[in-house]
Amino acid sequence: MSDRSGSHETKITVTSALPYANGEIHIGHIVSTYLPADIFTRYSRMKGYNVIHICATDDFGTPILIKAEQENNTPEEYVKYWHQRDLKDFTDLGISFDLFHQTSSNENINLAQHFFRKLFENNHIYNKKISQSYCEKDEKFLPDRYVVGACPFCKAVEQYSDGCEKCGRAFQPGEVLDPHCIICGNKPILRESLHYFFRLSGFSDQLKNWLLNNENLQSEVTNYVLNWIENGLKDWDITRDISWGVPIPLENAAGKVLYGWFDNHICYIASTLHYLYKKGVNGKDFWNSSRIYHFIGKDIVYHHYLFLTAMRMGIGEEYKLPDNIPVRGHLMIQNQKISKSRGRYLSLNDFLKAFPADYLRFYCSSITPLGQTDVNFGWADFQAKINNELVANVGNFVHRTLSFINTRYHGKVPKPGEYVDYDKQFIEKMKSISLDVGEKVETNHIDKAIKLIMDFSTRCNQYFQFKEPWTQKTEFSTCLYLCVNAVHTLSLMLAPYLPFSAEKLWKQLGLTGSVHSARWDSAVQLNLDPGHSVLEAEILFLKIEDEVIDSRSKELEQ
Ligand code: 2FM
Ligand code: ZN
Repeated sequence: MSDRSGSHETKITVTSALPYANGEIHIGHIVSTYLPADIFTRYSRMKGYNVIHICATDDFGTPILIKAEQENNTPEEYVKYWHQRDLKDFTDLGISFDLFHQTSSNENINLAQHFFRKLFENNHIYNKKISQSYCEKDEKFLPDRYVVGACPFCKAVEQYSDGCEKCGRAFQPGEVLDPHCIICGNKPILRESLHYFFRLSGFSDQLKNWLLNNENLQSEVTNYVLNWIENGLKDWDITRDISWGVPIPLENAAGKVLYGWFDNHICYIASTLHYLYKKGVNGKDFWNSSRIYHFIGKDIVYHHYLFLTAMRMGIGEEYKLPDNIPVRGHLMIQNQKISKSRGRYLSLNDFLKAFPADYLRFYCSSITPLGQTDVNFGWADFQAKINNELVANVGNFVHRTLSFINTRYHGKVPKPGEYVDYDKQFIEKMKSISLDVGEKVETNHIDKAIKLIMDFSTRCNQYFQFKEPWTQKTEFSTCLYLCVNAVHTLSLMLAPYLPFSAEKLWKQLGLTGSVHSARWDSAVQLNLDPGHSVLEAEILFLKIEDEVIDSRSKELEQ
């Protein structure tokens, strides 16, 4: 199915990769995943599509269990804290999930166990004894991320034992070279345990077929995934010997749980079903007849393109496969890799204490292409974008238009005179711009779409400038009539990107209701009639001063 065509019956399920309930959301997550997904969802709502945006915290796993223990807390309480905290941060940024659930919810545990049983019955899961890393000092089986060593493929050092950040390959815990425990630094020993394996290798042909026939997937991504398949897929160890996870639903598996990557993506489905069930809708029917988009960052391509997809295939596609998995690159800060331990990262919460959410949304969406290239957050660039584009371009146009209407026409939209060619060209642009922007958003090019909106705003300023309404020539009522309608168009188009500012603008235009309930398609006509009252012009965007940016850049240099 193509990404483009949409009608009011179009159902869309959007999911954003689930953040671990184990630390705060940072801007890297926002850029690669949550913001693109949110813009797409908000746009789809305005198009009148039947769209839901689902996310949850990824609650299970040893790292979380260990952290909770260190804090003398239960894992349930620990993840509850992060679940609430993440939801608050997302809400402050205007990320509008329909449901933000938890992988530790009963719904997800039940569905993950259902998947396990079916895969087991269908002979896609088998068990065998394996030797596993165990730290004698800490008296624990060590999870993948607690053992580091060299990548068995490309030999890059200091890689986690489940995958290599350098070459992108995933591997089994026992395969990492020269391993050591990250809690105490000792070399772990190997201890035997009965583990369950998902027969990923059995899906090579089916996966290949799916990749080659799904035209929505980014070819740069499918190419290297095909290459992984070509080189041979390995079966996946889906067992962990800990207490915090989805219990393996078999008699002889007491004390064993499913690996977090078995159940976390199932939570996309479990949460969708749960959300719709509460609304009295058959969630399975919805899921299976919707277009499914899983938004992710490039570090989890393997899990989504292969593991998630094969698991759905393995239970007979009882739940539809993804239509699209938009992948985006990592965020660099001031041209360097994000590193939490070195303090080189930007927490969402801290950022929002200093700047309006829409500034971050604007900047991040304009620098984020659909693709795997890494994206750079630069403070000077951030300042320039806000000051030159939001303040000097959009803010200026909106303010001058509304001010003129207030001072010259007592706040009432004037009646236009006869159109000359220049007006007609401007009207044409106004009528077509939302179609062009919409096409870019539907194909997930949010950066290109915001660029078109900015170009349109520049065009509006040029029109205004050319018409010189301050000279009081006869046609200045035409200019202001068209400009205030252009402001209306801008508020609609900016709504998915700048939800808070677009709403303020909507109110300044004297409109009732919310811009977010307005229809995107109404932007193809002139909506504000002569005589309509607008409110006083208020400053929408404030300039960012140099001192503010200087101190931010310095913080990162330390
Ligand atoms: O890499 C991560 O942060 C994982 N918590 C993402 C999980 S997405 C999944 F649910 F598919
Ligand atoms: Zn140890």
